[in-house]
Amino acid sequence: MVPASTEGQIPVIILREGTRETKGKTAQRNNITAVKLIGNIMKTSLGPRGMDKMLVDNLGDVTITNDGATILKEMDIQHPAAKMLVEVAKSVDNEVGDGTTSAAIFAAALVEKAEDLINKDVHPMVIVDGYDMASEKALELLNKISIKVDPEDKDVLASIAKTAMESKLVSEDSPLLAKIAAEAVLQVAEKSGETYKVDMDNIKVEKKAGGSIRDTNLINGIVLDKEVVHGGMPKRIEKANIALLNAALEIEKTEMSAEIRIQDPEQMKSFLEEENRMMKAMVDRISESGANVVICQKGIDDIVQHYLAKAGILTVRRVKESDMVKLAKATKGRVVTNIEDITNDDLGAADLVEERKLESDRWVFIEGCKDPKAITLLIRGGSQRVADEAERSMHDALMVVKDVIERPAIVAGGGSPEAYAASHLREWASTKKGREQLAVIAYADALETIPLTLATNAGMDPIDTLVGIRSKQAQGIKWAGVDVFNTKVADIYKIGIIEPLAVKEQIIKSATEVSNMILRIDDVIASSKPPERPGAPQPPME
Ligand SMILES: Nc1ncnc2c1ncn2[C@@H]1O[C@H](COP(=O)(O)OP(=O)(O)OP(=O)(O)O)[C@@H](O)[C@H]1O
Ligand SMILES: [Mg+2]
Repeated sequence: MVPASTEGQIPVIILREGTRETKGKTAQRNNITAVKLIGNIMKTSLGPRGMDKMLVDNLGDVTITNDGATILKEMDIQHPAAKMLVEVAKSVDNEVGDGTTSAAIFAAALVEKAEDLINKDVHPMVIVDGYDMASEKALELLNKISIKVDPEDKDVLASIAKTAMESKLVSEDSPLLAKIAAEAVLQVAEKSGETYKVDMDNIKVEKKAGGSIRDTNLINGIVLDKEVVHGGMPKRIEKANIALLNAALEIEKTEMSAEIRIQDPEQMKSFLEEENRMMKAMVDRISESGANVVICQKGIDDIVQHYLAKAGILTVRRVKESDMVKLAKATKGRVVTNIEDITNDDLGAADLVEERKLESDRWVFIEGCKDPKAITLLIRGGSQRVADEAERSMHDALMVVKDVIERPAIVAGGGSPEAYAASHLREWASTKKGREQLAVIAYADALETIPLTLATNAGMDPIDTLVGIRSKQAQGIKWAGVDVFNTKVADIYKIGIIEPLAVKEQIIKSATEVSNMILRIDDVIASSKPPERPGAPQPPME
């Protein structure tokens, strides 16, 4: 890029040759168009009547999903502003797990409404300020109408999980899966003072294609995708005492290379016998501790395996470190690094350890642990794609339960909180001066995109529905929203569609943040750096 210099006619080169720049209104308009486009793609996926997307990557792998974050991630978006929507979805997914489609739609709606104002010559910075004020007010309004719940109330938690799965492929089995999700998260929740904390790492999610979604179950313990190491070992042990080892069960090779010269075969024999004796001693040591199951993070020598089998000890080797941590939490055992140190107190306990055949694989189940603080969710599904989508849906369900356990406040769904916040924002806007008032009203309009989209996707007339919701809410039914299954306006709280307040808050915060970020941009400078892969497309400017 060579800007004309004003004096002396010598061009001043600032940016690399080939750099493209779009400025002012054009830059803004390009960004807005891109974001709107993504918003429109996402709209059809919202709610129980939303459609799924089939995404094919450049290797031909197919993903079928309704999950907003997954759709945006897999779309491989190139436009820099549109990419920011992917970031929103990701951040919502990380923070609260659900609401990613809503966040993308809402962010796009905010940008779209801002465009109208920009066309009327309202400065983008005024809109940004108005949006900031409006989002704070909306958070305050939602907080005020939210309902406090008991974080240990399994029915509430299951309803929350059910709503999150309502829009997914697994919705038919959502009552069962929701119960499982609620139980799983409650099991690993830890109380500190008056509040709870949930570490999702303590829920091991395993999936296996085959069977049906209904075969999904919760295991009070840990499932390892490993086989019992030796054919001669028992495959089932009841009342298991489990040694958790982080030590190789083999004779250690020395770091230095040493040479032993053996003159006669007797010496050789006694050398091997000594090795043998050492390995047997290891097994004896484990046996003496009372262990009848060994789970080892490292490798196990063939001879040690033989002795373990002889001692009737079920053994699994090369288990991941993360699984060892979970096993310790589930069985209340301690991971031992030196076999010499092992005692009976270090052993974990489980009612049953068993190797089972799961389709073509053999997996080891460690189950029936007493009050385990780490558990496994084994997800099944007719085919790999079904199992994959079931896993994604379960992720949403587990996360929303976690959200409510950690912050026990809920709102109803069906677009009712968005509609409520919108109408109260409009009233509040009249107290604001000047053009910011317009921005607050635009914010309220954007919020209503959620009920409007839910209605459209359910085949209802969007405008009639919105008018219906407004009038019912004006009559004091604050949870009036879109009942997508009966295609009418109804009290959504009464029909048991509830969602975490945390999710709605996160949607508002993230969407406002990103729309404001996009609105502040008035100059897009794309570097001319050669593409990473030969032939790969340059990031488009428009
Ligand atoms: N039975 C129902 N009746 C009315 N609305 C519902 C019902 N179940 C869910 N919803 C609404 O559907 C919306 C959620 O849809 P969906 O799960 O497709 O998107 P999301 O949660 O925003 O994103 P994602 O789940 O992809 O991360 C929420 O507004 C919720 O209130
Ligand atoms: Mg959802």
